[in-house]
Amino acid sequence: MNLIKRGLTVKGKSVLVTGGASFIGSHLVDTLLKAGAEVSVADDFSSGKLENLNYPFKKINSSQWKNRSLTVFRGDLKNRSFTRRMVKDVDVVFHLAALHGGRGYIDIHPAECCSNMILDQLVFEEACKAGVEKLCFASSACVYPSYLQGEAGSSYLLKEADADPFKRDNAFADLEYGWAKLMGEMALKAYHREYGMKTAAVRIFTAYGPRENETHAIVALIAKAFIKMDPYVIWGNGEQDRNFTYVQDIVDALVAACQKIEDGSSVNAGRSDRLTINQAIDLVFDLVGWKPKQIARDTSKPQGVASRAADITRAKDVLCWAPQVTYREGFKKTIDWYFSNHRVDSVKSNLDRLLLER
Ligand SMILES: NC(=O)c1ccc[n+]([C@@H]2O[C@H](COP(=O)([O-])OP(=O)(O)OC[C@H]3O[C@@H](n4cnc5c(N)ncnc54)[C@H](O)[C@@H]3O)[C@@H](O)[C@H]2O)c1
Repeated sequence: MNLIKRGLTVKGKSVLVTGGASFIGSHLVDTLLKAGAEVSVADDFSSGKLENLNYPFKKINSSQWKNRSLTVFRGDLKNRSFTRRMVKDVDVVFHLAALHGGRGYIDIHPAECCSNMILDQLVFEEACKAGVEKLCFASSACVYPSYLQGEAGSSYLLKEADADPFKRDNAFADLEYGWAKLMGEMALKAYHREYGMKTAAVRIFTAYGPRENETHAIVALIAKAFIKMDPYVIWGNGEQDRNFTYVQDIVDALVAACQKIEDGSSVNAGRSDRLTINQAIDLVFDLVGWKPKQIARDTSKPQGVASRAADITRAKDVLCWAPQVTYREGFKKTIDWYFSNHRVDSVKSNLDRLLLER
């Protein structure tokens, strides 16, 4: 995305990325630095990694690293004094910190996902008190009702109005993780209404790309091809579909939403075209140049909703945004990264844990 054309005005601004050492967060940090922002990252490294931020850091102390316009702080944003310190003198906050993972993680860690409500409220409250100019929240497609996504092969596109806690019968989020994100969105609107704080929520759909972990479907499928798993196990019958969206497209949507939305309203960041897991593995096998003799479909494992894709009319209208990276291009970049950054023996011996733990 041409950031100048998009009117990105973060040059010289102080921008905090909570969870900035994460998969999406680290790509966002790269983009903000390129646009000339002074960036700070607050992350407890519970799943984020300093290595995701690929800069030659000077270690200031055991919980602070610095490189030119980037400073990284290790700390728990559920600790109010740390959060208060992080938002001080900050112009813009991108709030991505969360306990989160793929389907395997959110299915078996419901209580941890609920704790995101505390984290979100603390960040919003402290940002508001500190007079932060703008706050952009990483919400999720999991705010949408599962009953709209229950039919395999569906052509239904989820639109923002399908998840609105203020409309009767119009909110039924996907598990505790989805409810926590929806409550975060509701709080953002409240902060705008009561204090005039400028806020935006981006409903991220099934991101994938370099630096993602194996709890997410595409990286899990790539990991299994990397170790030449045979029989090659997939979760479910493979006919469930998703609109896998490349991480740079997601980052561009976050940046654009931060520029264009002020009233706490939400916007979808995802694709409208779907890929089934069976199609995804064919693409992986094709790009990797290897195919297993047998595919085992394990229907006892969590599979999530049957079909999910986004209506991006609002993103096009309000953000002038649409995904740019094709499935083939995005899969190729992710495979290249995975293959050059992992070791077969290590992935083989840890795979069961990698698929479930963030
Ligand atoms: N990956 C996706 O497909 C997807 C989809 C929808 C929404 N999201 C949201 O995007 C954001 C980033 O997700 P991700 O997939 O890049 O990776 P992630 O879930 O690993 O990112 C979360 C980050 O927050 C940090 N963190 C967690 N608790 C913290 C705390 N108490 N204090 C400080 N830091 C803390 C973690 O270390 C990590 O770096 C999350 O909010 C997630 O819910 C992601």
